[in-house]
Parts: sequence; structure tokens; C-alpha cells
Amino acid sequence: MSRTVLVLNGPNLNLLGQREPEIYGRTSLEDIRRLTEARGQSHGLTVDFRQTNDEGGLVSAIQGARTTAGGIVINAAAYTHTSVAILDALLACGLPVIEVHLSNIFKREEFRHHSFVSRAATGVICGFGANGYELAMDAMAQLLSKAKTA
Ligand code: DQA
Repeated sequence: MSRTVLVLNGPNLNLLGQREPEIYGRTSLEDIRRLTEARGQSHGLTVDFRQTNDEGGLVSAIQGARTTAGGIVINAAAYTHTSVAILDALLACGLPVIEVHLSNIFKREEFRHHSFVSRAATGVICGFGANGYELAMDAMAQLLSKAKTA
């Protein structure tokens, strides 16, 4: 099984650090990439870290992961709340999926409380800021080691 984890980031996350810092913090996506890679490495995992503002780009990346990755960590950002296409791609990929959000979406506006992604996720980590990506790598390492021994 692949020890590569696809870490996918959706729209506007390229602006992290500058975008609504009171909600999303001051850590840039580049910093999050470094933290995630380091945590992945500590578990013997390789991180394929990507960001796109396009819904179709997210769908294509998920489809590609079927042959290149052992699991997916996804912060689909606003598409979390709208995209059946991303849900269908995640259901089709047959890989463990961990959903991440920097903010606690349940503390925020009503429209953020529903997630299509959650229907395909093994688990959800939200509200821990950038640290959520590190927690997701810890959880993914456990999921992959369980799958290996199963
Ligand atoms: C987000 C939460 C979403 O509701 C929002 O649209 C985002 C970021 C988060 O990481 O907290 O862009 O996914």
C-alpha cells in the first residue's frame, strides 16, 4: 500500500495568513505544508500537498490519488458545503479520508454546519487551526497501520 498521503486544499486557502486572520490564524499555507510534511515524515509518510481554487481540479486530484496515494486529507474549504462532485470522487476513490478545517465550522454560520465531505470521511478534525493538519497526519498514520495489519 502507498505511504503517500494526498493533502488537498480548496479555494482561498492560498490566502491563509492574510485572509480573515481572526478566524483562520496567521500561519500561511506554505508554513502548513512544512508542518504537515514534517509530521508525515515522523510517521514514515510522504506528503503530496496541493491547493487549487477549482472544484474540477479537486475532483481530478482525488481521482488521481486512487493509484498514487494510500489516503487523503482534505480541507475542501467552501466546496465542503456545496460539492456533490467532490463527495462522489471521494466515495469512488476507496481510500481512507480525513476531513480538516482550521476553524470550528459548527461554531460558525448555519450554512457551514453541513458538510458533503463528511459522508465520505473516516473522521473530521476542525477548530484546531494549522495544528489540525498535524493531527490529521497522526490519525492517517494510525489508519494506514491498521489497514496493513488487517
Ligand atoms: C474552512 C471552513 C469553510 O467553511 C470555509 O469556507 C473555508 C475554510 C476552514 O478551514 O475552517 O474556506 O474549510
